[in-house]
Amino acid sequence: MFSSTNVSKEFVVNNRRSTKLKIIPYIGCKAGFSYIFDEILPAEFDNHLYDIFGGGGSFAFYACARYGAKRVTYNDNNPVVVNLIQHLQCEPHKLWSLYNEHYKQSSEQHFYDVRTQNLESGVDGAANFLYLAKNAFSGKIRFNRKNRFNSSVRKHSRCPKLDLGDLLQLSETIQELTIVNKDYTEFSAVTNALVYLDPPYFNNSNRHYNSVIDLQEFNRFLRTIETNNKIVLSEQNEPAVFGLPDSYSVCLVILKRSLQYVTQSQSREMIAFNF
Ligand SMILES: C[S@@+](CC[C@H](N)C(=O)[O-])C[C@H]1O[C@@H](n2cnc3c(N)ncnc32)[C@H](O)[C@@H]1O
Repeated sequence: MFSSTNVSKEFVVNNRRSTKLKIIPYIGCKAGFSYIFDEILPAEFDNHLYDIFGGGGSFAFYACARYGAKRVTYNDNNPVVVNLIQHLQCEPHKLWSLYNEHYKQSSEQHFYDVRTQNLESGVDGAANFLYLAKNAFSGKIRFNRKNRFNSSVRKHSRCPKLDLGDLLQLSETIQELTIVNKDYTEFSAVTNALVYLDPPYFNNSNRHYNSVIDLQEFNRFLRTIETNNKIVLSEQNEPAVFGLPDSYSVCLVILKRSLQYVTQSQSREMIAFNF
C-alpha cells in the first residue's frame, strides 16, 4: 500500500461529488478528480491533451470542457467503451431513445439477454452497453479476456433514467473530440502535449479490464514520452515502481467510498506530474 513519503500534497475524493461530465460508472473513474485537475493542470494550455487510457472518459470530458474539445484526444483499447463515446458524440438522440427502450423493458432477464448481444458496434451496441453499464452490480463494469462484458446485474433497484438534456449537453461538449481505439504504445511519438495516463492498476488481482499491462513496457513508454510532454499519472502503486525522476511532484489521493473498493471505506492512490 502507498506510503506517504515524498508526498507534496493530499487530496480527498468523495464519490458523491456530482458532475455532468460523466456518462457511465466505470472502474477507476476519475470524474471526482476534477477539482484536483483544476489545481494541478496549467491555467492556459495551447497544445494538445491526450487521455490515453480513457475508459469512461472523465479526463477527456473534463479537458474538452476546460480547454476545448478540438485540442483533446480520447483513447482506449476496448472497442466497447470507444463505441459508446463515439455514439455519444455523433448520435446522442438515437442513443437516448434506444436506452429509453431498455429502460421500459428493464428486468434481470432483460439485462442478461442484452449481455449476449452486440456491444461494440453501431448505436445499438452503444445503447446496449450503456444500459448494462448503468445497471451493473455496484457500478462495477468488468470485461473478460475475450472482451465480453461479464458484470452481474444490480439487484433490487430500478433502471436509472437518462436525462436527455444532460446527454445532449455532454455530446455538445465533446463534438470536436478525437476518439481513437489503439494500444497505448502507439502514442510514443507524441510531443509537446499534456498526456494523462490512468492505466489499469499494476499488481492488482481484481481483473476488471480485458487486458493487463506489463510494468516494464509501460515504464519504457513513460521514459520515452516524459522528456517531451507534460505527464499526469494516476496509480495505486508506490511512485518508486515507475522510477519517476525528480521532476515529478507526487500527491496522495484518498478515495472515500470509491467505486473500485466498495467494500472498503477508503483507499489511496497517487497522482504524479512532471511540470
Ligand atoms: C483505470 S481505467 C481508466 C479509467 C478512466 N480514467 C475513467 O475515468 O473512466 C484503465 C483503462 O485502460 C484501458 N486499457 C487497458 N489496456 C490498455 C492498452 N494496452 N492500451 C490502451 N488502453 C488500455 C482499459 O480498457 C481501461 O478502460
